[in-house]
Amino acid sequence: MTHNGSDIAAPAVAVAYHSGFGHTATLAEAVAAGAREAGAVVATVAVDRMTDADWDVLDSADGIVFGSATYMGNVSAAFQGFAESTGRRCFTGAWRDKVAAGFTNSGGKSGDKLNTLVSLAVFAAQHHMHWVSLGLPPGWNHSKASENDLNRLGFFLGAGAQTDVDADPDGVHAADVATHRHLGHRFALVTRQFIVGRSVTAAAPSPAAS
Ligand SMILES: Cc1cc2nc3c(=O)[nH]c(=O)nc-3n(C[C@H](O)[C@H](O)[C@H](O)COP(=O)(O)O)c2cc1C
Repeated sequence: MTHNGSDIAAPAVAVAYHSGFGHTATLAEAVAAGAREAGAVVATVAVDRMTDADWDVLDSADGIVFGSATYMGNVSAAFQGFAESTGRRCFTGAWRDKVAAGFTNSGGKSGDKLNTLVSLAVFAAQHHMHWVSLGLPPGWNHSKASENDLNRLGFFLGAGAQTDVDADPDGVHAADVATHRHLGHRFALVTRQFIVGRSVTAAAPSPAAS
């Protein structure tokens, strides 16, 4: 992609997630697939086993999609441990103005997943990141609708999935996989818009100066 004759690189997107039993990991792969479809260079990072290379991936990403299984109505302890280990980056503003979004999965149809998404959004805000919503109308909400609808659980803030607690990782509902793929696709497009926008505003005269 070019703008004013210059190459605009494909956005670098990271998917940073915690999954205890593999369900959220399946959804992380769906987010990654959607972002790749939209032209991003994507890496997935399991936040409970961070390496130096993983930190480099997050530090150099244009955008990070955060994901956590919902445990006890919130992000998992492993995700929160990761969040707390970013404290120095938070103080220094290392992730300022990166793009962010979030997803979660739980055993209950609700399971208090919204609280997890709120925690992810607050975490991103503490890093001065820009939050991208799911961008889908609620599915499965009228008499002709079905549980196979995109966004079948009706979230707006991010993507939410429900997986039976005794399901294998590949037993995640196909509609939830598609919904997370949508989030990844939308996230990559918005992140690219940020990159292009920055290149334009860097070249444009500041309105404050005029
Ligand atoms: C410690 C613990 C707490 C949980 N708390 C919730 C909860 O608050 N709400 C819910 O609906 N499911 C809850 N679950 C079920 C998980 O969200 C569900 O099994 C999910 O699919 C696990 O995702 P994962 O395989 O990515 O770890 C909990 C599971 C565990 C192990």
